[in-house]
Amino acid sequence: MDYKKIISSMTLEEKASLCSGRDFWHTKAVKSQKIPEIMVSDGPHGLRKQPKSPDHLGTYESIKAVCFPAACATASSFDRSLLLKMGKAIGVECQSENIATILGPAVNIKRSPLCGRNFEYFSEDPLLATELAGSFIKGVQSKNVGTSIKHFTANNQETRRLTVSVKADERTMREIYLAAFEGAIRNAAPWTVMCSYNRINGLHASENKKYLTDILRDEWGYEGVVMSDWGAVNDRAKGLAAGLDLEMPGSYGINDREIIEAVQNGTLSEKVLDKTVERILRWIDKYESKKQKDVKWDKDADHELAGKIEEESAVLLKNEDGILPLDKNDTIAVIGKFAKAPRFQGGGSSHINSYKVTSFMDAAKGKGHDIIYADGYDPSKEEIDRTLIAKAVNAAKKSDVAVVFAGLPDIFESEGYDRQNMQMPESQNVLISEILKVQPNVVVVLHNGSPVEMPWEKDVKGIFEMYLGGQNVGLAEYELLFGKANPRGRLPETFPKKLEDNPSYLNFPGHMDSVDYAEGVFVGYRYYDSKNMEVLFPFGHGLSYTTFKYSNLKVSKRKIKDSDTLTVSVDVTNIGRMAGKEVVQIYVAPPQDGIPRPVHELKAFEKVSLRAGETKTVSFDLNSRAFAYWDKEIHDWYVAAGDYMIEAGSSSRDIKYTKKINIESTMKRIPTITENTCFGDLLGDPRLADTLKPLIKSYLHIEKEEKSKASVADTEKMYMEWLRYTPLRGVVNMGDGSFDHEKLAKVIQALQNKIS
Ligand code: BGC
Repeated sequence: MDYKKIISSMTLEEKASLCSGRDFWHTKAVKSQKIPEIMVSDGPHGLRKQPKSPDHLGTYESIKAVCFPAACATASSFDRSLLLKMGKAIGVECQSENIATILGPAVNIKRSPLCGRNFEYFSEDPLLATELAGSFIKGVQSKNVGTSIKHFTANNQETRRLTVSVKADERTMREIYLAAFEGAIRNAAPWTVMCSYNRINGLHASENKKYLTDILRDEWGYEGVVMSDWGAVNDRAKGLAAGLDLEMPGSYGINDREIIEAVQNGTLSEKVLDKTVERILRWIDKYESKKQKDVKWDKDADHELAGKIEEESAVLLKNEDGILPLDKNDTIAVIGKFAKAPRFQGGGSSHINSYKVTSFMDAAKGKGHDIIYADGYDPSKEEIDRTLIAKAVNAAKKSDVAVVFAGLPDIFESEGYDRQNMQMPESQNVLISEILKVQPNVVVVLHNGSPVEMPWEKDVKGIFEMYLGGQNVGLAEYELLFGKANPRGRLPETFPKKLEDNPSYLNFPGHMDSVDYAEGVFVGYRYYDSKNMEVLFPFGHGLSYTTFKYSNLKVSKRKIKDSDTLTVSVDVTNIGRMAGKEVVQIYVAPPQDGIPRPVHELKAFEKVSLRAGETKTVSFDLNSRAFAYWDKEIHDWYVAAGDYMIEAGSSSRDIKYTKKINIESTMKRIPTITENTCFGDLLGDPRLADTLKPLIKSYLHIEKEEKSKASVADTEKMYMEWLRYTPLRGVVNMGDGSFDHEKLAKVIQALQNKIS
């Protein structure tokens, strides 16, 4: 396709029309140029193709499809190859349904456990989120179907999501909220990016040139299409100028006219419009030119894959006295409606019309396993149902073990609104405590999209976190509980003891249209671990039915330059009797003598499969980014010189071995010296010593007099301490009179020259 030629023969009206959707799911065709329309669809964990009445609440019927585990679950797999596989399967489904682009993955950071949409997001950690999203994108796009990484950016709550303005500083945005997108965009090149609803520091994401063009395109080299979230456009012409290509779902031509007018009155350059049109044409052509016809997808195979993905993702949080795996010969009471009708997905635009659901009880039946069952609670009601509880207690009393299937009902978490608290329904908490009165062997199996408080955590023997595990969750539960499969998921987020412990607690969801990300980069474990705070379950935690031993942590060099790559390796041995998988996590602990930094951050991870008795060496390459922070003064990543600890462990709180390395910083970091620069910021630089001497002499002159009058111990050391936090202008107001502002300016210039 000769894009330039086509664009030159399109009318202004045709060009503008291509910049918004025809309806909820289609782009517009341009008949004169034989440009077809293409269809997009939600996403992200299955296909929600709505052939007829469209809406984004998932109210109207979409085609029968397969609901894979949601991102809260798949993130727990810590498994890139799994996300690739899932992406490929969804890619084939899209091919067969003629969907050009699936609206996902969703990578927004889990800032608070209360965000109603956390179930659709991966993690509180940007590295984990971006790596898994990148694999998913590669999987889908290997089938010549596009993805739309969303919601770009800082969309971390549902409350007032269309109007709220996020107040976050440059470093926080770079290290946390942008980083979740950056890796996936740079390495996996999604065909489209979906901008978010919210405002960032006052400006709508849909018209924010800094993010949509300066960072996304100019810095990260992104070449694809940027589309709006559904209804996120505020000012269409401004949005287009800022880098927003496609408005979805379209506004009946109203906003297209705004574009036309802006070009006609000269406020929008037609060249900018042409670039946007070219990007949209390339996207359509990319899909259309290699479109696969007559692709059939195998629903049953994908249903099976959904179960395998969940098996890889479920997290065993607690296993006291080896209560799990369960013994098939024991009498087991299964309690809780979620064992028969599991909650396996969240509400809103990602809601899949599952063609089939396998519950735990279905799976048990399929295996010919007859199990005692009691409802225990009604998920549609919050009130405590004493009759249901009595029946459940009775069943538990007669059994060797009680397994309670619990979690959050649909209404508790969904797109569109946030949770009110971190609690499970009272009806379920009371049920568990009543069962504990008659049965010491209790296992809780959770179905929820985000952390919950667990008042019964100390009293139950086993806890499985299934998250929202997709339509075949029941099979995964059966295989894991009875030890046919070995648990191998790890938490992609911290479970705090209580909501108040969360770093965003005082600033979530903000007031009216403003939310302050006051905790800065201290999100999730970056905060809990820096504060050494007790948590319910730490980031990266997850048990196995086997045991792993770490040994031989090695680093390629003990002393490196900031531009070098460090290779880290560690041996992991399965010392148990069952094959299993371990997630090896590498954290970097930076020096703490400069700007405030989290005590450590995840910088690499790998899931390894080990037979009983097997040892594998796992290695990782850490480049400068693993050691850097975003420096607000130089507006760039910066590696501070000093000692860093390399930590290898199986959770953020279970570090097995550490190795110290030293980094020499070669990057020029040139601060601007002003009258308000403190002496202390310059004293450590030997290049400045001579130039600073006369200033120091002048300042210390008066200080000495004052101090001797006050008969304070007259030591040089003490003067130098005082001097540290004195700005250079101190020599004018408090010196010996030998410097005025003009003279000081000359010295400042000399100092600046020495460091430049
Ligand atoms: C959601 C998007 C979704 C879109 C289309 C919006 O409300 O935020 O994630 O892709 O609707 O359904």
